[in-house]
Amino acid sequence: MTTKFLLEESRMPRHWYNIVADLPVPPAPPLHPATKQPVAPADLEPLFTRSLIEQEMATEREIEIPEPIREVFRLWRPAPLIRARRLEQALQTPAKIFFKYEGVSPAGSHKPNSAVPQAWYNAQAGIRKLSTETGAGQWGSSLAFAGALFGLEVKVFQVRVSYDQKPYRRALMETYGATCIPSPSPETAAGRAALAERPDHPGSLGLAISEAVEVAATNDDTKYALGSVLNHVLLHQTIIGQEAMLQMEMADADPDVVIACTGGGSNFAGLAFPYVGQTLRGGRRRRIVAVEPAACPSLTRGKFAYDFGDTAHLTPLTKMHTLGSTFTPPGFHAGGLRYHGMAPLVSHLKELGLIEAQAHTQNDCFAAAVLFARCEGIVPAPEASHAIQGAVAEALRCKAEGKAETILFGLSGHGHFDMAAYTNYLGGKLVDASYDEAELAMALSGLPSIPA
Ligand SMILES: Cc1ncc(COP(=O)(O)O)c(C=O)c1O
Repeated sequence: MTTKFLLEESRMPRHWYNIVADLPVPPAPPLHPATKQPVAPADLEPLFTRSLIEQEMATEREIEIPEPIREVFRLWRPAPLIRARRLEQALQTPAKIFFKYEGVSPAGSHKPNSAVPQAWYNAQAGIRKLSTETGAGQWGSSLAFAGALFGLEVKVFQVRVSYDQKPYRRALMETYGATCIPSPSPETAAGRAALAERPDHPGSLGLAISEAVEVAATNDDTKYALGSVLNHVLLHQTIIGQEAMLQMEMADADPDVVIACTGGGSNFAGLAFPYVGQTLRGGRRRRIVAVEPAACPSLTRGKFAYDFGDTAHLTPLTKMHTLGSTFTPPGFHAGGLRYHGMAPLVSHLKELGLIEAQAHTQNDCFAAAVLFARCEGIVPAPEASHAIQGAVAEALRCKAEGKAETILFGLSGHGHFDMAAYTNYLGGKLVDASYDEAELAMALSGLPSIPA
Protein backbone atom coordinates (compact mmCIF):
# COMPACT_ATOMS: atom_id res chain seq x y z
CA MET A 1 0.00 0.00 0.00
CA THR A 2 1.78 3.14 -1.18
CA THR A 3 1.36 6.24 0.98
CA LYS A 4 3.69 8.77 -0.68
CA PHE A 5 3.70 9.18 -4.43
CA LEU A 6 7.10 10.54 -5.38
CA LEU A 7 8.11 11.70 -8.84
CA GLU A 8 11.66 11.30 -10.13
CA GLU A 9 13.46 14.64 -10.51
CA SER A 10 13.68 13.92 -14.23
CA ARG A 11 9.85 14.04 -14.44
CA MET A 12 9.60 17.53 -12.94
CA PRO A 13 7.55 19.68 -15.36
CA ARG A 14 9.57 21.62 -17.96
CA HIS A 15 6.86 24.20 -18.66
CA TRP A 16 4.47 26.38 -16.74
CA TYR A 17 0.83 26.11 -17.83
CA ASN A 18 -0.97 29.30 -18.88
CA ILE A 19 -4.75 28.89 -18.55
CA VAL A 20 -5.39 32.06 -20.59
CA ALA A 21 -4.74 29.98 -23.75
CA ASP A 22 -7.71 27.70 -22.97
CA LEU A 23 -10.30 30.16 -21.65
CA PRO A 24 -13.59 30.40 -23.57
CA VAL A 25 -13.79 34.13 -22.75
CA PRO A 26 -10.65 36.25 -22.24
CA PRO A 27 -10.27 37.95 -18.83
CA ALA A 28 -10.88 41.72 -18.60
CA PRO A 29 -7.62 43.67 -19.07
CA PRO A 30 -5.96 45.57 -16.21
CA LEU A 31 -6.49 49.34 -16.47
CA HIS A 32 -4.15 52.25 -15.90
CA PRO A 33 -5.24 53.97 -12.64
CA ALA A 34 -5.13 57.47 -14.18
CA THR A 35 -6.39 56.97 -17.76
CA LYS A 36 -8.62 53.91 -17.02
CA GLN A 37 -7.37 52.52 -20.34
CA PRO A 38 -5.81 49.02 -20.63
CA VAL A 39 -2.24 49.08 -19.32
CA ALA A 40 0.56 48.82 -21.84
CA PRO A 41 3.68 46.78 -20.99
CA ALA A 42 5.66 50.04 -20.62
CA ASP A 43 3.30 51.19 -17.85
CA LEU A 44 4.45 48.26 -15.72
CA GLU A 45 8.17 48.75 -16.28
CA PRO A 46 8.83 50.94 -13.22
CA LEU A 47 7.74 47.95 -11.11
CA PHE A 48 8.57 44.78 -13.00
CA THR A 49 11.27 43.51 -15.27
CA ARG A 50 10.41 42.90 -18.93
CA SER A 51 10.39 39.09 -18.97
CA LEU A 52 7.90 39.02 -16.07
CA ILE A 53 5.69 41.61 -17.82
CA GLU A 54 5.73 39.36 -20.91
CA GLN A 55 4.61 36.43 -18.76
CA GLU A 56 1.91 38.61 -17.17
CA MET A 57 0.44 39.29 -20.62
CA ALA A 58 1.26 35.95 -22.25
CA THR A 59 -1.35 34.03 -24.21
CA GLU A 60 0.60 30.90 -25.20
CA ARG A 61 -0.32 27.69 -23.38
CA GLU A 62 3.14 26.64 -22.27
CA ILE A 63 6.09 28.71 -21.09
CA GLU A 64 9.41 26.98 -20.64
CA ILE A 65 10.92 26.90 -17.14
CA PRO A 66 14.57 27.98 -17.58
CA GLU A 67 17.09 25.34 -16.50
CA PRO A 68 18.74 27.48 -13.73
CA ILE A 69 15.30 27.72 -12.08
CA ARG A 70 14.68 23.98 -12.43
CA GLU A 71 18.10 23.42 -10.87
CA VAL A 72 17.04 25.36 -7.75
CA PHE A 73 13.65 23.61 -7.69
CA ARG A 74 15.45 20.26 -7.48
CA LEU A 75 16.43 21.20 -3.91
CA TRP A 76 12.90 20.18 -2.87
CA ARG A 77 10.80 19.43 -5.96
CA PRO A 78 8.99 17.38 -7.08
CA ALA A 79 6.93 17.78 -3.91
CA PRO A 80 5.21 14.66 -2.56
CA LEU A 81 1.60 13.63 -3.05
CA ILE A 82 0.37 11.79 0.05
CA ARG A 83 -2.66 9.59 0.67
CA ALA A 84 -4.21 10.64 4.01
CA ARG A 85 -5.35 7.16 5.05
CA ARG A 86 -5.37 7.89 8.77
CA LEU A 87 -7.51 10.97 8.24
CA GLU A 88 -9.90 8.87 6.12
CA GLN A 89 -10.10 6.34 8.98
CA ALA A 90 -10.65 9.01 11.62
CA LEU A 91 -13.50 10.48 9.58
CA GLN A 92 -14.88 7.02 8.78
CA THR A 93 -15.38 8.16 5.21
CA PRO A 94 -15.56 6.01 2.10
CA ALA A 95 -13.78 8.87 0.26
CA LYS A 96 -10.11 8.64 -0.71
CA ILE A 97 -8.21 11.73 0.41
CA PHE A 98 -4.93 12.82 -1.21
CA PHE A 99 -2.95 15.95 -0.52
CA LYS A 100 -0.16 17.66 -2.42
CA TYR A 101 2.36 18.85 0.16
CA GLU A 102 4.22 22.11 -0.56
CA GLY A 103 5.61 22.49 2.99
CA VAL A 104 8.81 20.63 1.96
CA SER A 105 10.28 23.80 0.40
CA PRO A 106 13.03 25.70 2.30
CA ALA A 107 10.60 28.45 3.32
CA GLY A 108 7.90 25.92 4.22
CA SER A 109 5.27 26.66 1.57
CA HIS A 110 4.48 26.92 -2.14
CA LYS A 111 5.75 30.51 -2.26
CA PRO A 112 9.33 29.74 -3.46
CA ASN A 113 7.77 28.34 -6.68
CA SER A 114 7.32 31.96 -7.74
CA ALA A 115 10.00 33.66 -5.60
CA VAL A 116 12.80 31.74 -7.32
CA PRO A 117 11.74 32.63 -10.89
CA GLN A 118 10.96 36.24 -9.94
CA ALA A 119 14.40 36.68 -8.36
CA TRP A 120 16.13 34.90 -11.25
CA TYR A 121 14.49 37.00 -14.00
CA ASN A 122 15.29 40.20 -12.08
CA ALA A 123 18.91 39.15 -11.55
CA GLN A 124 19.17 38.32 -15.28
CA ALA A 125 17.97 41.86 -16.04
CA GLY A 126 20.70 43.33 -13.83
CA ILE A 127 18.39 44.39 -10.98
CA ARG A 128 20.08 44.45 -7.57
CA LYS A 129 17.19 45.18 -5.15
CA LEU A 130 13.65 43.90 -4.67
CA SER A 131 10.89 45.22 -2.43
CA THR A 132 7.89 43.20 -1.39
CA GLU A 133 5.20 42.68 1.24
CA THR A 134 4.34 39.64 3.30
CA GLY A 135 1.20 38.63 5.17
CA ALA A 136 1.99 35.28 6.74
CA GLY A 137 5.75 35.76 6.48
CA GLN A 138 5.84 32.85 4.01
CA TRP A 139 6.26 34.99 0.90
CA GLY A 140 8.81 37.31 2.55
CA SER A 141 10.88 34.29 3.65
CA SER A 142 10.62 32.81 0.16
CA LEU A 143 11.79 35.96 -1.60
CA ALA A 144 14.54 36.38 1.02
CA PHE A 145 15.72 32.83 0.24
CA ALA A 146 15.53 33.41 -3.54
CA GLY A 147 17.32 36.76 -3.21
CA ALA A 148 20.15 35.06 -1.34
CA LEU A 149 20.58 32.55 -4.18
CA PHE A 150 20.90 35.21 -6.87
CA GLY A 151 22.64 38.02 -4.95
CA LEU A 152 19.68 40.42 -4.65
CA GLU A 153 18.99 42.74 -1.71
CA VAL A 154 15.43 42.13 -0.47
CA LYS A 155 13.34 44.56 1.59
CA VAL A 156 10.14 43.08 3.07
CA PHE A 157 7.19 45.01 4.54
CA GLN A 158 5.53 42.57 6.92
CA VAL A 159 1.92 43.24 7.96
CA ARG A 160 2.08 44.51 11.56
CA VAL A 161 -0.09 41.80 13.19
CA SER A 162 1.91 39.05 11.54
CA TYR A 163 5.22 40.80 12.48
CA ASP A 164 4.09 40.77 16.12
CA GLN A 165 2.66 37.23 16.03
CA LYS A 166 5.64 35.62 14.31
CA PRO A 167 9.04 36.99 15.36
CA TYR A 168 10.77 33.89 13.99
CA ARG A 169 9.55 34.55 10.45
CA ARG A 170 11.43 37.83 10.67
CA ALA A 171 14.49 36.00 12.01
CA LEU A 172 14.26 33.61 9.05
CA MET A 173 14.10 36.50 6.55
CA GLU A 174 17.11 38.12 8.23
CA THR A 175 18.98 34.82 8.23
CA TYR A 176 18.56 34.75 4.44
CA GLY A 177 19.93 38.30 4.40
CA ALA A 178 16.73 40.33 3.86
CA THR A 179 15.53 43.43 5.76
CA CYS A 180 12.12 43.14 7.40
CA ILE A 181 10.02 46.17 8.38
CA PRO A 182 6.60 46.16 10.12
CA SER A 183 3.88 47.74 7.97
CA PRO A 184 2.53 50.41 8.20
CA SER A 185 5.96 51.98 8.60
CA PRO A 186 7.27 55.56 8.71
CA GLU A 187 9.50 54.72 5.70
CA THR A 188 6.88 55.49 3.04
CA ALA A 189 4.21 58.11 2.40
CA ALA A 190 1.53 55.37 2.37
CA GLY A 191 2.74 54.04 5.73
CA ARG A 192 3.00 57.50 7.31
CA ALA A 193 -0.58 58.34 6.21
CA ALA A 194 -1.93 55.10 7.71
CA LEU A 195 -0.07 55.68 10.99
CA ALA A 196 -1.29 59.27 11.21
CA GLU A 197 -4.88 58.02 10.94
CA ARG A 198 -4.43 55.11 13.32
CA PRO A 199 -1.15 54.83 15.29
CA ASP A 200 -1.95 51.22 16.32
CA HIS A 201 -2.87 50.17 12.77
CA PRO A 202 -2.74 46.33 12.50
CA GLY A 203 -1.69 46.60 8.86
CA SER A 204 -3.13 44.74 5.90
CA LEU A 205 -1.75 43.14 2.79
CA GLY A 206 -3.22 45.98 0.71
CA LEU A 207 -1.30 48.54 2.76
CA ALA A 208 1.96 46.58 2.78
CA ILE A 209 1.69 46.29 -1.02
CA SER A 210 1.37 50.10 -1.23
CA GLU A 211 4.57 50.52 0.79
CA ALA A 212 6.55 48.00 -1.26
CA VAL A 213 5.26 49.42 -4.57
CA GLU A 214 6.14 52.95 -3.44
CA VAL A 215 9.72 51.92 -2.66
CA ALA A 216 10.10 50.32 -6.11
CA ALA A 217 8.41 53.19 -7.95
CA THR A 218 10.60 55.82 -6.30
CA ASN A 219 13.96 54.00 -6.54
CA ASP A 220 15.46 53.31 -9.97
CA ASP A 221 17.54 50.40 -8.73
CA THR A 222 14.60 48.55 -7.12
CA LYS A 223 11.86 46.39 -8.62
CA TYR A 224 8.77 45.09 -6.91
CA ALA A 225 7.83 41.42 -6.40
CA LEU A 226 4.33 40.21 -5.56
CA GLY A 227 3.67 36.82 -3.97
CA SER A 228 0.20 36.16 -5.38
CA VAL A 229 -2.70 37.60 -7.42
CA LEU A 230 -0.87 38.45 -10.67
CA ASN A 231 -1.05 36.20 -13.73
CA HIS A 232 2.68 35.46 -13.76
CA VAL A 233 2.65 34.37 -10.10
CA LEU A 234 -0.27 32.01 -10.74
CA LEU A 235 1.56 30.75 -13.83
CA HIS A 236 4.67 29.88 -11.78
CA GLN A 237 2.56 27.91 -9.31
CA THR A 238 1.13 25.59 -12.00
CA ILE A 239 4.10 23.30 -11.45
CA ILE A 240 2.09 22.06 -8.41
CA GLY A 241 -0.93 20.83 -10.34
CA GLN A 242 1.12 19.40 -13.21
CA GLU A 243 3.12 17.30 -10.75
CA ALA A 244 -0.06 16.31 -8.89
CA MET A 245 -1.62 15.05 -12.13
CA LEU A 246 1.34 12.74 -12.79
CA GLN A 247 1.30 11.57 -9.17
CA MET A 248 -2.46 10.92 -9.15
CA GLU A 249 -1.86 8.73 -12.21
CA MET A 250 0.80 6.85 -10.24
CA ALA A 251 -1.83 6.37 -7.51
CA ASP A 252 -4.24 5.11 -10.18
CA ALA A 253 -6.78 7.69 -9.03
CA ASP A 254 -8.46 10.74 -10.49
CA PRO A 255 -9.87 13.50 -8.28
CA ASP A 256 -13.61 14.18 -8.29
CA VAL A 257 -13.00 17.25 -6.16
CA VAL A 258 -9.91 19.50 -6.10
CA ILE A 259 -9.65 21.85 -3.10
CA ALA A 260 -7.24 24.62 -2.08
CA CYS A 261 -7.27 27.69 0.14
CA THR A 262 -7.36 31.16 -1.41
CA GLY A 263 -5.65 34.31 -0.15
CA GLY A 264 -4.65 35.99 -3.40
CA GLY A 265 -5.27 32.74 -5.28
CA SER A 266 -1.80 31.46 -6.18
CA ASN A 267 -1.64 28.00 -4.56
CA PHE A 268 -5.25 27.39 -5.57
CA ALA A 269 -4.47 28.30 -9.18
CA GLY A 270 -1.28 26.26 -9.04
CA LEU A 271 -3.10 23.08 -8.09
CA ALA A 272 -6.39 23.67 -9.89
CA PHE A 273 -5.61 25.39 -13.21
CA PRO A 274 -3.98 22.37 -14.89
CA TYR A 275 -7.14 20.38 -14.03
CA VAL A 276 -9.47 23.16 -15.22
CA GLY A 277 -7.41 23.42 -18.42
CA GLN A 278 -7.85 19.71 -19.05
CA THR A 279 -11.63 20.14 -18.73
CA LEU A 280 -11.59 23.18 -21.03
CA ARG A 281 -9.77 21.14 -23.67
CA GLY A 282 -12.58 18.57 -23.63
CA GLY A 283 -11.58 16.45 -20.64
CA ARG A 284 -13.58 15.33 -17.65
CA ARG A 285 -15.36 17.95 -15.54
CA ARG A 286 -14.47 17.97 -11.84
CA ARG A 287 -15.57 20.07 -8.89
CA ILE A 288 -12.94 22.69 -8.11
CA VAL A 289 -13.36 24.33 -4.69
CA ALA A 290 -11.69 27.46 -3.35
CA VAL A 291 -11.79 27.84 0.45
CA GLU A 292 -11.45 31.25 2.02
CA PRO A 293 -11.75 32.66 5.56
CA ALA A 294 -15.21 33.75 6.71
CA ALA A 295 -13.59 36.92 8.11
CA CYS A 296 -12.20 38.00 4.72
CA PRO A 297 -14.54 36.43 2.16
CA SER A 298 -13.65 38.08 -1.17
CA LEU A 299 -14.93 35.27 -3.43
CA THR A 300 -18.15 34.54 -1.54
CA ARG A 301 -19.07 38.05 -0.36
CA GLY A 302 -17.05 40.43 -2.53
CA LYS A 303 -18.15 42.28 -5.62
CA PHE A 304 -16.79 41.37 -9.08
CA ALA A 305 -15.55 44.79 -10.14
CA TYR A 306 -12.51 46.80 -11.11
CA ASP A 307 -10.53 47.73 -8.01
CA PHE A 308 -7.06 48.67 -6.83
CA GLY A 309 -4.76 45.93 -5.57
CA ASP A 310 -3.49 48.14 -2.76
CA THR A 311 -4.74 50.63 -0.20
CA ALA A 312 -2.90 53.71 -1.47
CA HIS A 313 -4.12 53.15 -5.07
CA LEU A 314 -0.71 52.91 -6.69
CA THR A 315 -1.39 49.66 -8.60
CA PRO A 316 -3.30 49.15 -11.86
CA LEU A 317 -7.04 48.49 -11.62
CA THR A 318 -7.93 44.84 -12.07
CA LYS A 319 -11.33 43.18 -12.40
CA MET A 320 -11.66 40.82 -9.48
CA HIS A 321 -13.76 39.77 -6.51
CA THR A 322 -13.04 42.47 -3.99
CA LEU A 323 -14.12 43.63 -0.55
CA GLY A 324 -12.86 47.13 -1.42
CA SER A 325 -9.24 48.25 -1.27
CA THR A 326 -9.74 50.20 1.98
CA PHE A 327 -11.21 47.16 3.78
CA THR A 328 -9.06 46.05 6.76
CA PRO A 329 -9.97 42.50 7.77
CA PRO A 330 -9.87 41.51 11.47
CA GLY A 331 -6.46 40.27 12.68
CA PHE A 332 -7.09 36.53 12.46
CA HIS A 333 -4.24 34.04 12.30
CA ALA A 334 -4.17 33.08 8.63
CA GLY A 335 -2.26 36.26 7.73
CA GLY A 336 -1.78 35.09 4.15
CA LEU A 337 -5.54 35.09 3.61
CA ARG A 338 -6.12 38.67 4.84
CA TYR A 339 -6.35 40.26 1.38
CA HIS A 340 -9.27 42.34 0.13
CA GLY A 341 -9.11 41.05 -3.44
CA MET A 342 -8.70 37.85 -5.38
CA ALA A 343 -6.56 37.03 -8.41
CA PRO A 344 -8.31 38.30 -11.57
CA LEU A 345 -7.91 34.88 -13.22
CA VAL A 346 -9.43 33.03 -10.24
CA SER A 347 -12.25 35.61 -10.11
CA HIS A 348 -12.85 35.20 -13.85
CA LEU A 349 -13.13 31.40 -13.48
CA LYS A 350 -15.63 31.89 -10.67
CA GLU A 351 -17.72 34.18 -12.89
CA LEU A 352 -17.58 31.58 -15.69
CA GLY A 353 -18.91 28.95 -13.26
CA LEU A 354 -15.77 26.83 -13.59
CA ILE A 355 -14.99 26.88 -9.85
CA GLU A 356 -16.91 27.05 -6.54
CA ALA A 357 -16.06 28.92 -3.35
CA GLN A 358 -16.72 28.31 0.36
CA ALA A 359 -15.88 30.33 3.48
CA HIS A 360 -15.01 28.79 6.87
CA THR A 361 -14.33 30.27 10.32
CA GLN A 362 -10.87 30.06 11.84
CA ASN A 363 -11.97 27.91 14.79
CA ASP A 364 -13.40 25.28 12.42
CA CYS A 365 -10.21 25.43 10.37
CA PHE A 366 -7.97 25.01 13.43
CA ALA A 367 -10.11 22.07 14.58
CA ALA A 368 -9.56 20.42 11.18
CA ALA A 369 -5.83 21.28 11.35
CA VAL A 370 -5.43 19.67 14.78
CA LEU A 371 -7.29 16.53 13.66
CA PHE A 372 -5.06 16.41 10.57
CA ALA A 373 -1.88 16.85 12.67
CA ARG A 374 -2.94 14.04 15.00
CA CYS A 375 -3.60 11.70 12.04
CA GLU A 376 -0.95 12.65 9.48
CA GLY A 377 1.75 14.25 11.64
CA ILE A 378 2.09 17.50 9.71
CA VAL A 379 1.14 20.71 11.56
CA PRO A 380 -0.37 22.83 8.79
CA ALA A 381 -0.02 26.55 8.22
CA PRO A 382 -3.23 28.33 9.34
CA GLU A 383 -3.84 29.28 5.68
CA ALA A 384 -3.60 25.65 4.59
CA SER A 385 -5.96 24.60 7.39
CA HIS A 386 -8.75 26.14 5.29
CA ALA A 387 -8.10 23.60 2.54
CA ILE A 388 -8.13 20.80 5.14
CA GLN A 389 -11.45 22.02 6.51
CA GLY A 390 -12.81 22.07 2.95
CA ALA A 391 -11.57 18.50 2.40
CA VAL A 392 -12.99 17.29 5.73
CA ALA A 393 -16.38 18.79 4.83
CA GLU A 394 -16.33 16.97 1.47
CA ALA A 395 -15.23 13.70 3.10
CA LEU A 396 -18.11 13.95 5.60
CA ARG A 397 -20.53 14.67 2.75
CA CYS A 398 -19.25 11.52 0.99
CA LYS A 399 -19.86 9.60 4.24
CA ALA A 400 -23.42 10.94 4.54
CA GLU A 401 -24.13 10.15 0.89
CA GLY A 402 -22.27 6.81 0.93
CA LYS A 403 -20.06 7.91 -1.98
CA ALA A 404 -16.45 6.78 -2.46
CA GLU A 405 -15.25 9.94 -4.19
CA THR A 406 -11.62 10.93 -4.58
CA ILE A 407 -10.63 14.21 -2.95
CA LEU A 408 -7.38 16.04 -3.71
CA PHE A 409 -6.41 19.06 -1.65
CA GLY A 410 -3.43 21.38 -1.54
CA LEU A 411 -1.49 21.51 1.71
CA SER A 412 0.24 24.77 0.87
CA GLY A 413 2.59 24.96 3.86
CA HIS A 414 3.55 23.85 7.35
CA GLY A 415 2.79 25.83 10.48
CA HIS A 416 6.06 25.55 12.38
CA PHE A 417 6.27 29.32 12.73
CA ASP A 418 2.61 29.56 13.70
CA MET A 419 2.68 27.75 17.02
CA ALA A 420 1.50 30.84 18.93
CA ALA A 421 -1.74 30.53 16.95
CA TYR A 422 -2.03 26.87 17.92
CA THR A 423 -1.37 27.74 21.56
CA ASN A 424 -4.22 30.26 21.38
CA TYR A 425 -6.52 27.75 19.74
CA LEU A 426 -5.70 24.96 22.20
CA GLY A 427 -6.18 27.40 25.10
CA GLY A 428 -9.68 28.23 23.81
CA LYS A 429 -8.61 31.82 23.17
CA LEU A 430 -9.35 32.14 19.46
CA VAL A 431 -12.33 34.27 18.61
CA ASP A 432 -14.09 34.07 15.27
CA ALA A 433 -13.94 37.82 14.82
CA SER A 434 -16.26 38.85 12.06
CA TYR A 435 -15.53 41.75 9.77
CA ASP A 436 -17.39 44.99 10.27
CA GLU A 437 -20.42 45.05 7.89
CA ALA A 438 -20.47 48.86 7.92
CA GLU A 439 -16.77 49.00 7.00
CA LEU A 440 -17.34 46.50 4.18
CA ALA A 441 -20.25 48.55 2.83
CA MET A 442 -18.12 51.68 2.99
CA ALA A 443 -15.15 50.01 1.28
CA LEU A 444 -17.42 48.67 -1.48
CA SER A 445 -19.12 52.03 -1.99
CA GLY A 446 -15.68 53.50 -2.63
CA LEU A 447 -14.94 51.23 -5.60
CA PRO A 448 -13.58 53.26 -8.53
CA SER A 449 -16.06 54.05 -11.30
CA ILE A 450 -15.03 52.79 -14.71
CA PRO A 451 -16.53 54.25 -17.86
CA ALA A 452 -18.32 51.50 -19.85
C1 LIG B 1 0.99 28.58 3.49
C2 LIG B 1 0.17 29.55 2.71
N1 LIG B 1 -0.90 29.12 2.03
C3 LIG B 1 -1.67 29.97 1.33
C4 LIG B 1 -1.41 31.32 1.28
C5 LIG B 1 -2.32 32.20 0.53
O1 LIG B 1 -1.78 32.75 -0.63
P1 LIG B 1 -2.24 32.27 -2.05
O2 LIG B 1 -3.72 32.38 -2.13
O3 LIG B 1 -1.53 33.18 -2.99
O4 LIG B 1 -1.79 30.85 -2.22
C6 LIG B 1 -0.29 31.83 1.95
C7 LIG B 1 0.02 33.26 1.88
O5 LIG B 1 0.85 33.79 2.51
C8 LIG B 1 0.51 30.92 2.68
O6 LIG B 1 1.59 31.35 3.35
